[in-house]
Amino acid sequence: MPLLSVRDLVVKFAMRDETVTALKSISFDVARGDRLGIVGESGAGKSVTGFALLNLISRPGFIDSGEILFDGMNMADMSDAELREVRGNKMAMIFQDPMVTLNPVLTIGQQMVETLQAHRKLSRKEAEQIAVLKLREVYIPAPEERLAQYPHELSGGMRQRIIIAIALLLDPQLIIADEPTTALDVTIQADIMELLLELCTTKKVSLILITHDLGVVSQMTENTLVMYAGRIIEAGRTREIINDPQHPYTQGLINALPQQTLPGERLKQIPGNMPSLSAAPKGCAFNARCEFAQDRCRMEVPNFEQIGPVKVACHEVRRLHHETHKQEDLA
Ligand SMILES: Nc1ncnc2c1ncn2[C@@H]1O[C@H](COP(=O)(O)OP(=O)(O)OP(=O)(O)O)[C@@H](O)[C@H]1O
Ligand SMILES: [Mg+2]
Repeated sequence: MPLLSVRDLVVKFAMRDETVTALKSISFDVARGDRLGIVGESGAGKSVTGFALLNLISRPGFIDSGEILFDGMNMADMSDAELREVRGNKMAMIFQDPMVTLNPVLTIGQQMVETLQAHRKLSRKEAEQIAVLKLREVYIPAPEERLAQYPHELSGGMRQRIIIAIALLLDPQLIIADEPTTALDVTIQADIMELLLELCTTKKVSLILITHDLGVVSQMTENTLVMYAGRIIEAGRTREIINDPQHPYTQGLINALPQQTLPGERLKQIPGNMPSLSAAPKGCAFNARCEFAQDRCRMEVPNFEQIGPVKVACHEVRRLHHETHKQEDLA
């Protein structure tokens, strides 16, 4: 049994004039110890997916239907008490901005002790000892002294290390990290990713890493989901998706990487924008930006089907796959 199994998950937002569907029936699994990347442009539904997994979608949003089976239990219909038990304890989330998680008026020590005592029967002394141990694991220098400091006294990189330490406090089975380094200096982004990778690997914690950056995904994860306008449009082993993307949108994302561009050349951005939820076109949501779109793509939503080693939602994928691989054979 996979650690996490999401089935036909639908999330909606009830706005004043209309109800929009942010997740249009998504399904995926995360095996124990596996690291999964979720990529896609802004507004694709990556963060909504992360929040939904913890059943943290708040009004006007709601989980409309579907299952989120975590370790056999359905997160979508747990009581608040059961959810509190899972959150932090078994599943932890790391956000882009450390200050979302850190309370500015409490010291690092107070926050860590509070989190520990909420889930475990520990004295303050015992909780502090665990806190120091966890700070040491994320390579925080002089951890004993950090306990007395307030979040604003620390650098952004240090704060994000503390967030990782807090996420690991209760030895969770799954960490969901939503753009955990975008708010940081470029120079320390790689350090934080490396730390996250090291800790997940040594502790056999599963990771869901949400990011815009396909380069990061290729370094950090074994499997990848590509999202577009609230759907998963390609899924499979990260290596396959990076080396041989099947969906025209995934191909566009990879062609737009700076590594694919010669010096002096402009980045090959995908033309146009992702449609807003209320203005999604009929058929495949990518059709207006897709150079291969046919009439059918403007009429019917494509099925999500296995094409070789990956799963893809594209009407034209068989033809395109055939043509690229034929050209390769001739070359
Ligand atoms: N609180 C909200 N109220 C209404 N709609 C929302 C809300 N949060 C998200 N949405 C809708 O869900 C869609 C997906 O949002 P989400 O935050 O998951 O995108 P994302 O893929 O994480 O983008 P980004 O890369 O910018 O973080 C958005 O286009 C938005 O329309
Ligand atoms: Mg987001």
